This record gives sequence, structure tokens and C-alpha cells, in this order.
Amino acid sequence: MALHHHSDHKARFQQQIDNSQEYVFPFIEATHSITSASKVLEVGTGEGGVLVPFIEKGAYSVGVDLAPERIDLANEFLAKEVATGKALFLCQNIYDSAFISLYSQYFDVIILKDVIEHVYEQDKFIAHLKTLLRPGGQIFFGFPPWQMPFGGHQQVCRTKWVSKLPYYHLFPIPIFKAILRWGGEDDNMIKEMLEVKATGISIERFERIIKQTGLKVLKKQHYLINPIYKYKFGLEPRKQLGIIVALPYLRNFLTTCVYYTVG
Ligand SMILES: C[S@@+](CC[C@H](N)C(=O)[O-])C[C@H]1O[C@@H](n2cnc3c(N)ncnc32)[C@H](O)[C@@H]1O
Repeated sequence: MALHHHSDHKARFQQQIDNSQEYVFPFIEATHSITSASKVLEVGTGEGGVLVPFIEKGAYSVGVDLAPERIDLANEFLAKEVATGKALFLCQNIYDSAFISLYSQYFDVIILKDVIEHVYEQDKFIAHLKTLLRPGGQIFFGFPPWQMPFGGHQQVCRTKWVSKLPYYHLFPIPIFKAILRWGGEDDNMIKEMLEVKATGISIERFERIIKQTGLKVLKKQHYLINPIYKYKFGLEPRKQLGIIVALPYLRNFLTTCVYYTVG
């Protein structure tokens, strides 16, 4: 069982690497070249796989996460890179004064992949990320818009039909909770689902915060089929149609993932 559990983590780590190599890294490189002089931060790094192509380019890469067990896995999977000083993984809050004093105006690139939709007070958080950037630095965001068919992250539920049912996360909380309970989900899973319901973010809200923070969108790509689905489910990634991208509000319901670089 423990071995099987570990191989799941390893598989997720490999998915992070593959998706980053093919999609995230080229997207970021299109507006900011990565060299051995670059300093890169991933907030919400999980097992650290997203950083691998950056480490391979020689960039000094720091990954932070609030989940200690995921940072332990990153340190295990990337032990050689950590030992040689190419990478550092920390279980730390980026608001900690120790973090701020080390990394104020330090990073060329900051990455948040599948993280901003889990963060409270996103306006304050993004303004804080900006203080960690060097002049000319850029921030990458990849996230699923809240209103997309599985924007509630219900795919992580244990019960099959509850994990495969689209859009019901958009119902008011009592109905949403009743469906989860009916499906047999436990209190922990329901709490997790309600947290995502509290922090889920739309494309419009995200773009508004970027503007209010004094940042500019340098590159964006909306996807009908999220690139990560290729590695998780064998689905071919599909870019969103231009006509859908141009339709505010409605586009959220039909777009499984968006990539943005801002600076
Ligand atoms: C869905 S995972 C994404 C992991 C990885 N970036 C990837 O693309 O596979 C979200 C991660 O963000 C972390 N996280 C959430 N809020 C955070 C915060 N405020 N600071 C650091 N990490 C955070 C969680 O612990 C979790 O590991």
C-alpha cells in the first residue's frame, strides 16, 4: 500500500515535469529567456516537478509549499539538485519575515501553477508576489477558471459519480454539500471542497486584480482542454476558440485552463 502510494506521488511528479517541459517552460520562455543566471520561484510547488526544466537550464530554483509532506517528496525526488545547490525546497509561508528578508526583489520569474485558485485574498497575495520580483521580472499563472465544468476540483472526490459530475460546485453551499454527502464524501473532503468554493477565481476577477496591482498581461493562452489532461487522462490539449475567448463571463464555463504571464 505504502509503495503504491509512493508510486502515485512519483507519477504526479513525472506529470509535472512533462507538462512543464512541453507547455509551461516554453510559455514562460516566450517572454523571458531562462539562463544559468536566472532565479526562479515556484509558489505551491508540490513535488517540485514543474521546476525541473528550469533547473536543467541552470536557473537557481526555489520551491515553496505549505504542505510539509509534499516538500519532503520534492527534496527526495530532487535530492541531487538540492545537494548541488541548484534547487531549494522550503515549507514556508511567503509572508514570513525570514522569507521576505531573503527574497525581496530577488526573482526573475515566479510560477504559480494550479495554485492561485487555492489562495485567500488573492489581491493581497499577488501584490506581495510583485515585491519578490526583480525589476523586469515576470509572474506565470496557470489555473482552472472557477466556473469550468470541474472548477470545484470535484475530480479528487472518492465516489465515482460525484467526481465525474460537472458544474454542481456552482450550486449554493447547502445543495453542493448535500450532493457531496449523498455521494458518501467525508467531512474532510467536504471541507476541502468548500475551501475551493471560497477561493475559486474567474478569468475576469484575475484580470481585474492584475490591472489593479499595476501589472500588465504579457502573454495569455486559454485552453478548451487543459494540457495537464494529456498526462493525466491521455487527452489531446486544445486551445480555446477565439470567439469563446472574446466572450466575457461565458468563456469561464467552457475553458478548463488559462495560462498568463504578467509583469
Ligand atoms: C494543485 S497543487 C499544485 C502543485 C504544482 N504546482 C503542480 O502544478 O502540480 C497546489 C499546491 O499549492 C499549495 N499551496 C496552496 N496555497 C499556498 C500558499 N499560500 N503558499 C504556498 N503553497 C500553497 C498546496 O499545498 C499544494 O501543494
